[in-house]
Amino acid sequence: MTQTAAATPLLSCQRVRKSFGALTAVRDLSFDVGVGEILGIGGPNGAGKTTLFEVISGLGAVSAGTISLDGQVITGLAPQQICHAGVARTFQLNAGFDSMTARQNVLVGAYFGQKNRAVPTLRAGRAANEATDAALEMLGIADKANVVTGLLPVLDRKLLMMASAMATKPKLLLMDEPVGGLTSGEIDRVMEAVRTTKRAGVTIILIEHVMRFLVRLSDRVMIMHHGEKIFEGAPHELVNDRTVVEVYLGKGASEHLKTFMDAAHG
Ligand SMILES: Nc1ncnc2c1ncn2[C@@H]1O[C@H](COP(=O)(O)OP(=O)(O)O)[C@@H](O)[C@H]1O
Ligand SMILES: [Mg+2]
Repeated sequence: MTQTAAATPLLSCQRVRKSFGALTAVRDLSFDVGVGEILGIGGPNGAGKTTLFEVISGLGAVSAGTISLDGQVITGLAPQQICHAGVARTFQLNAGFDSMTARQNVLVGAYFGQKNRAVPTLRAGRAANEATDAALEMLGIADKANVVTGLLPVLDRKLLMMASAMATKPKLLLMDEPVGGLTSGEIDRVMEAVRTTKRAGVTIILIEHVMRFLVRLSDRVMIMHHGEKIFEGAPHELVNDRTVVEVYLGKGASEHLKTFMDAAHG
């Protein structure tokens, strides 16, 4: 069930713009995400999807517009403040400390991701350790805890990024192309991980090109093109939207997706 009618959306973007010199990557984009919802974002390369995540997470400043979390304006806050307010993210390319173990990576998230550490110590404390173990368990990689991160296969690295994000105890999780480069079986694993995360009460925004993944998981889908929203609606409406089929899916992919969705519902 989608909960877009919630009185205060968890995330609200109002006329958000991000320009790099003459290039406007995100153009006056407005949308809301309700508590507990999964919003899927698709669109061609260069549409501005990752840039949108950059400004929501505070890694880049907006050029104009307002972003609020739980009714509080977060535009202008530093990335760590936005993280402490409840926004975590994963990256399109693997991010992490390669020479540390998987568990140490998650512990960094648990230790720094929940509150300010003015004078960091070497001891993370019980709460951070518990959050770390819970996150590893939740993402199904507890058995990899002591493996050096750089040696992990790509699926485990993706799940590890999710675990590190979850260890910060986010309200909102932003995932940038979480299944890029994975096999079909691996995609199913990540799909399950996303469902588990949703069941834990986390609101999620997913960017993904793998449409099967996007339409299966999303309560609502938004398609971006040239920094603007060209579609927002239910996943099953996507394949019948002429603009989306024209600029993004193409006829073949759209027919294929239709067949897949009929099979999934039948
Ligand atoms: N730091 C940057 N400096 C200049 N241009 C950028 C920067 N980041 C992204 N862009 C440009 O913004 C546009 C949107 O990029 P991006 O958000 O990465 O798209 P997507 O994730 O949808 O593929 C592209 O034209 C890209 O080249
Ligand atoms: Mg991108």
